[in-house]
Amino acid sequence: MASVWQTDFLVVGSGIAGLATAIKASRHGDIVLMTKGHLMESNTRYAQGGIAAAIGPGDSPQEHLADTLRAGHDFVEPEAATVLVEDGPIRVKELIELGAKFDMAPDGTLLLGREGAHSKARILHARGDATGAEVAEVLASQAAAISNISIYERHFVLDLIVHGGRCIGAAAVDAQGSLVLVLARAVVLATGGCGQVYQYTTNPGVATGDGFALAHRQGVTLTDMEFVQFHPTALAKADDPLVLISEAVRGEGARLVNEQGVAFMQGEHPMADLAPRDIVARAIFRQMRAGHRVYLDTTMIGARFADRFPTIYQACMEREIDPRTDLIPIAPAAHFIMGGIRTDTHGRTSMPGLYACGEVACTGVHGANRLASNSLLEGLVFSDRIAQNLAHEPRLKLEVPPGYVEKLAASKGLPGRAPARDLSVEYAHLTARLRRVMWDEVGIVRNEAGLTKALQEIDAIEREAPPGAWTLHNMLQTSRLIARAALMRQESRGGHYREDFPHESAEWRGRRINL
Ligand code: SIN
Repeated sequence: MASVWQTDFLVVGSGIAGLATAIKASRHGDIVLMTKGHLMESNTRYAQGGIAAAIGPGDSPQEHLADTLRAGHDFVEPEAATVLVEDGPIRVKELIELGAKFDMAPDGTLLLGREGAHSKARILHARGDATGAEVAEVLASQAAAISNISIYERHFVLDLIVHGGRCIGAAAVDAQGSLVLVLARAVVLATGGCGQVYQYTTNPGVATGDGFALAHRQGVTLTDMEFVQFHPTALAKADDPLVLISEAVRGEGARLVNEQGVAFMQGEHPMADLAPRDIVARAIFRQMRAGHRVYLDTTMIGARFADRFPTIYQACMEREIDPRTDLIPIAPAAHFIMGGIRTDTHGRTSMPGLYACGEVACTGVHGANRLASNSLLEGLVFSDRIAQNLAHEPRLKLEVPPGYVEKLAASKGLPGRAPARDLSVEYAHLTARLRRVMWDEVGIVRNEAGLTKALQEIDAIEREAPPGAWTLHNMLQTSRLIARAALMRQESRGGHYREDFPHESAEWRGRRINL
């Protein structure tokens, strides 16, 4: 027996995109916000470096735009990126008004950090390197205080409800295993990214690509899925997820070296250690493939390290590395996906009634390689535009389509009477197999044979996974989208590097792969 709820807007996900959408959209109707874990558990919470915005003296949205375009390898959509950099400072100021406390100099001016591929110091940060936690806490407490936002934690969305080509809600299972059908004038997917499909990632356990799979199962267009960003500097210790060592550390002067002390980024790019992420990650990968070990030398930051980067400092010290005196062992790790559910500059997807916001969306602002600290900004900027649009969504009479529950039960392996639960944990060995093949064959360096092998392995794992392993199926479907797109794009660009097609190609320049 399913409960049926009615609301104006259903928001799925509780990172910056979901929370900011819920807060803004609550002016236009009632909100149900669902998240599969705890409200605070999202990629946002772990963001260290900060939020990029042309807010400082001597900076301008035009310069921020130029850096965004350059980092994105001729693949950024200029209209969307213009919205990002122009609306960005306004939205950041609103966030400050809501209570976000960014780090300030004693004279009361914002302290702005520098990160890779930025021509200016324009990264706002909070509590040193706990920017995401600050933003998530402010937004979560605001959302919780708004009376027409109802927050449901530990609600796992199984599928969207689609009727007559329109998204009219979603089906979810609550913590007790009961089925809930939420009918809404519009649904906003803000489910974040998919780093967990890779063996090595900086993303928390919740980043399993659910939103991509939810949309794909309903025929909604996804684009640019081959463009995955590997962060150059994760702490190379046996953690899952790996601990991120923010690019802001290199912004403070840290340098990449190998075990022989060679600062190998010098010959790689004019910006050396602050080159765009894709370039740095591949340079590290080449070093490692040649048998070197790679380290971040942070010793020049010295005694300031603990104050400027308290989270990283603590994580290193817990692993018996003192960043003031020791080299930090690092390795690249899956961090972000530039592609996602195709949206316009108002967050609208190819399906009426369905919006996407944040990492799950592909607005086109990141092109083939995201500029550092543009991701929190994207969530802030586009959530505002989505909320404005939601006000105009029609008030239709909504009903659960006949036979929907029976079909859903069959496809998700929902038991009759017993509480439903995700079987993915019982099939952890299959998840591990998937993550391994994605890392080995769909990772930093790809080729046709490896991508073909990965697709075969994804099919093989899928055949062994029972319908009740919901998360695993979402991971498999998302992985297949990445691998398929990577196989189709016969060139190298940004985060997508094919050793069998190692150059950018004019033929592929404007061509997007829509799946
Ligand atoms: C970092 O602090 O290096 C990560 C920030 C980002 O992903 O943009």
